[in-house]
Amino acid sequence: MKKMAQILYFSLLVIALCSLSEGIQRRYHYINMNMNWTEAQRYCRENYTDLATVKNINDMNELKKTVNNKPMYVWIGLKRTDVYKWKWSLGDPVKYMNWETEPSTDTNNCAVMRNGTWHQQKCIDKLGFICYNDELILIQENLSWTEAVRYCRENHVDLVSVDSEKIQLMVTEVLHQASTAEVWLGLRHSCSVGIWFWVNGEIVCYDHWAPGNETDVDDCEREVRSGAVQSGGDHKWISHPESKQLNFICRRKKK
Ligand SMILES: *[C@@H]1O[C@H](CO)[C@@H](O)[C@H](O)[C@H]1NC(C)=O
Ligand SMILES: *[C@@H]1O[C@H](CO)[C@@H](O)[C@H](O)[C@H]1NC(C)=O
Ligand SMILES: *[C@@H]1O[C@H](CO)[C@@H](O)[C@H](O)[C@H]1NC(C)=O
Ligand SMILES: *[C@@H]1O[C@H](CO)[C@@H](O)[C@H](O)[C@H]1NC(C)=O
Repeated sequence: MKKMAQILYFSLLVIALCSLSEGIQRRYHYINMNMNWTEAQRYCRENYTDLATVKNINDMNELKKTVNNKPMYVWIGLKRTDVYKWKWSLGDPVKYMNWETEPSTDTNNCAVMRNGTWHQQKCIDKLGFICYNDELILIQENLSWTEAVRYCRENHVDLVSVDSEKIQLMVTEVLHQASTAEVWLGLRHSCSVGIWFWVNGEIVCYDHWAPGNETDVDDCEREVRSGAVQSGGDHKWISHPESKQLNFICRRKKK
């Protein structure tokens, strides 16, 4: 009976810990300074991640909120690269589109947003703009898990803790630039306690393990195991000895 109560208590504790996890989001920032498109891009790249990229209707709604739903024209990170081709500032193809009118082939080669729809605009015009900040950054250096933690803590906040499906999705967005087949996460195994935990102190609630890897800890006495995510495929989590040299993902400071 006592044991039963203990198990129940532990389960409740786990639920409580799991529900405390704090989300990571793409953040948009309205910059109330008039600049041409190129200057605005430089400003965003230096102080944030880039000019705003819009992937779906949710992003669009967030974007509208950053200007308090005011009907003003602001630069977004969309530019014409060819007569019929538009691209996001970081080179991503345009999948979600919301033009007020079909873009014409004139020389208005940059895009502004107003009221949630997009319009063509001359790139030399000076307007306010919206930057975005990804809270995750892929570091293309090959380091051991412990070195990766140190790097993230010195330069950013910490190695990323993937405590929800939402964060797993954000992780997959930065993975395409990885140069190693797997990339370190802030996932660590405790050999003595026999559990996996995140560097932010949380135990693992949401998980995305590749089959067999969660329990593949046989030689953990010899070397601590840590968790990485596959750069390709289904982006499953893999267990590796911590000395393996991999790219890694840091969580950035909030702005
Ligand atoms: C970044 O922000 C600072 C402070 O607002 C500003 O002085 C600086 O010029 C910005 N960087 C660029 C490239 O505009
Ligand atoms: C934007 O402004 C900068 C600095 O004033 C200038 O050098 C550049 O040519 C302008 N770019 C465009 C596309 O107008
Ligand atoms: C990291 O390792 C990968 C795969 O072995 C290699 O292709 C890449 O060039 C390495 N990167 C650095 C910065 O050494
Ligand atoms: C971990 O997952 C990978 C990819 O699915 C697989 O090749 C490997 O055998 C797994 N490790 C163990 C110990 O099952």
